[in-house]
Amino acid sequence: MGVRSVENLGFGGDMSGINLNGKCVWLTGASSGIGEALALELASRGAKLAITARRAEVLEQLVARIRAKGGEAWSFPGDVLNLDQMKQVVAAIELNIAPIDLAIPNAGTHLFTVPESFDCAEYLFVMQLNYGGMLHCIEAVLPGMLARKRGYLAPVASLAGYRGLPRAAAYGASKSAMIHFLESIRFHLKSKGVTISIVNPGFVRTPLTDKNDFHMPFIVDADQAARIICQGIERGKREIAFPFPFNWILKLARILPDAIYERIVDRLW
Ligand SMILES: NC(=O)c1ccc[n+]([C@@H]2O[C@H](COP(=O)([O-])OP(=O)(O)OC[C@H]3O[C@@H](n4cnc5c(N)ncnc54)[C@H](OP(=O)(O)O)[C@@H]3O)[C@@H](O)[C@H]2O)c1
Repeated sequence: MGVRSVENLGFGGDMSGINLNGKCVWLTGASSGIGEALALELASRGAKLAITARRAEVLEQLVARIRAKGGEAWSFPGDVLNLDQMKQVVAAIELNIAPIDLAIPNAGTHLFTVPESFDCAEYLFVMQLNYGGMLHCIEAVLPGMLARKRGYLAPVASLAGYRGLPRAAAYGASKSAMIHFLESIRFHLKSKGVTISIVNPGFVRTPLTDKNDFHMPFIVDADQAARIICQGIERGKREIAFPFPFNWILKLARILPDAIYERIVDRLW
């Protein structure tokens, strides 16, 4: 039995998934890359889609594209760094569309960092955007979900959050923080009707990775990533980690002794 079939058996015991058709979905970081592809995929599966990012005009263009294909979408521009704005966005969505069934905090960024030119502002910025931005979205959306005893959160973290990697201290730490936080709150929320899928992509072809000057193993297109993420949510997967086999290689790397892990990464990077 291959590793892929072990995954397909739901070896980890999947949770109840969500049929996206007709559901009210709030997605951040929708103006580009994975978020843009996810918006198109969610809409094609019948979701009522509320999209957020800072560039309002880009969101409006995406809304027009989705509607032209018969989908339902509305734009709610905002900055995830601003908690009050996120609360206003959620209130506006729930007033004008419907209570949010699924929230996908996806907005984020990547910065290469090297400790030789250490500037803690860089590390704090990435932490504030990737981790803090997700926390702001959760603070905005969770009270309503708890009151309704129903909801689904699928924040986009990264396989880079598994272990330390060269030049990835700021990014990896922010994604590790997300994974740790989400695993922890799942213990509390599962008995309260709120389900969590942690989305951990490997390399995905987007404007963010277009800047990379190195070989990105097993890289996938954003529309493929969006399909995998939607399928994972519909199946209620605890973790939506991809692409195969990169996800399993990095899972194995988590249990390697430090010295062996360090030697392998030194060779490859
Ligand atoms: N691409 C990959 O290989 C990869 C792998 C693993 C995980 N991820 C994660 O996937 C997510 C999306 O990445 P991507 O590759 O699609 O990047 P991207 O193309 O650069 O898109 C980033 C999105 O985040 C939004 N955003 C950035 N700062 C924001 C802010 N302060 N408030 C609201 N929205 C903000 C951007 O919109 P505006 O500029 O309009 O605000 C944009 O829509 C990120 O969390 C990233 O860490 C990506």
